[in-house]
Amino acid sequence: MFPLLKQKLALKNAELSNRLVLPPMATEKSAKGMVSQELCDYYERMSRGGYLGLIYTEHSYVSCDGQASPQQLSIADDTCLPGLTRLVKTIHDNGVKVIAQINHAGSSASSSITGLPVVGPSAVLNPSPAAKRHGGPFLPEALSLDAIDRIVEAFLQAAIRAQKAGFDGVEIHSAHGYLLNQFYSPLTNTRQDAYSGASLEGRTRLQTRICREVRSHLGDAFLISLRWGACDYAEHGASLAEVPQAAALFADAGIDLLSISGGMCAYSRPGHSEQGFFAELARAARKAVSIPVLLTGGIKDGEAAEGFLADGSADLIGIGRAILKDPDLPRCLMSEA
Ligand SMILES: Cc1cc2nc3c(=O)[nH]c(=O)nc-3n(C[C@H](O)[C@H](O)[C@H](O)COP(=O)(O)O)c2cc1C
Repeated sequence: MFPLLKQKLALKNAELSNRLVLPPMATEKSAKGMVSQELCDYYERMSRGGYLGLIYTEHSYVSCDGQASPQQLSIADDTCLPGLTRLVKTIHDNGVKVIAQINHAGSSASSSITGLPVVGPSAVLNPSPAAKRHGGPFLPEALSLDAIDRIVEAFLQAAIRAQKAGFDGVEIHSAHGYLLNQFYSPLTNTRQDAYSGASLEGRTRLQTRICREVRSHLGDAFLISLRWGACDYAEHGASLAEVPQAAALFADAGIDLLSISGGMCAYSRPGHSEQGFFAELARAARKAVSIPVLLTGGIKDGEAAEGFLADGSADLIGIGRAILKDPDLPRCLMSEA
């Protein structure tokens, strides 16, 4: 069963043993941002037996003003390194490749958690569910060009830490209403400079700058994935029609993997609960680029996963909540004769 799901995938020097991926999922199990035993135990359980092709660890904040929640994992300074190294070893020892997702919450952060001003591309309220947690949404201060340069540097330093800790790569988080997604969405980006919300080049400039910076410092072998909130499914928001052109801009920046998800609608699609509810976005992106595309969202069983590989919607399949509910699911799928 599931011959396509069981196929290997070569990604630079890394070979994924199959096409099944655990997408990033925040566990809130850190100890003040540091890797805890509980967190290691969770990833040990998820990777046990080596039945997943790839694990993304949960979003980790690149700087203190970008922290999204009280128990979020940190990658913001070198004190995180011993814990992250241990975490990577736990997953690698089970034979699974691992990518660190790195994030800045932007206007989905709360001063009550960070003790710092809330920032975003523009002084516009963020409509995403992420911004409504912790008492928000808060009106952000628009980032200056100098402050944007500091954000790029924070992402680069976080990626350097990920490489030092032994991760196979990093994922730049530009989905679910967090900072880079706020730049991509016309609902939250009303800038009129090089990061203009009125053009796709402007809306993708920060992400592509970060990807190029990471590539130039960390070399060709280090994997770079982009989690992309490709559509807001909201009036005047980011749309399906823009996907081919924007996907090509991201691919040109040298990423190795494009992971499709939602934008201001977060990881669900309004009015849709079918398996693979973002498949139309993945298909549109996959036609425009030659790098592998990962589809996640609502997928629960092997038949659906295999179907999206067979019909060309995606190269990799993410299953999140169904694996949380049943951590033996990867073993069952990969062991089916
Ligand atoms: C508890 C929980 C935490 C999540 N945390 C993250 C995260 O840290 N980063 C991210 O990009 N997506 C996150 N997501 C979204 C998942 O990666 C995934 O896109 C979503 O669960 C939809 O896929 P599924 O239907 O297979 O669960 C989270 C989802 C859940 C349920």
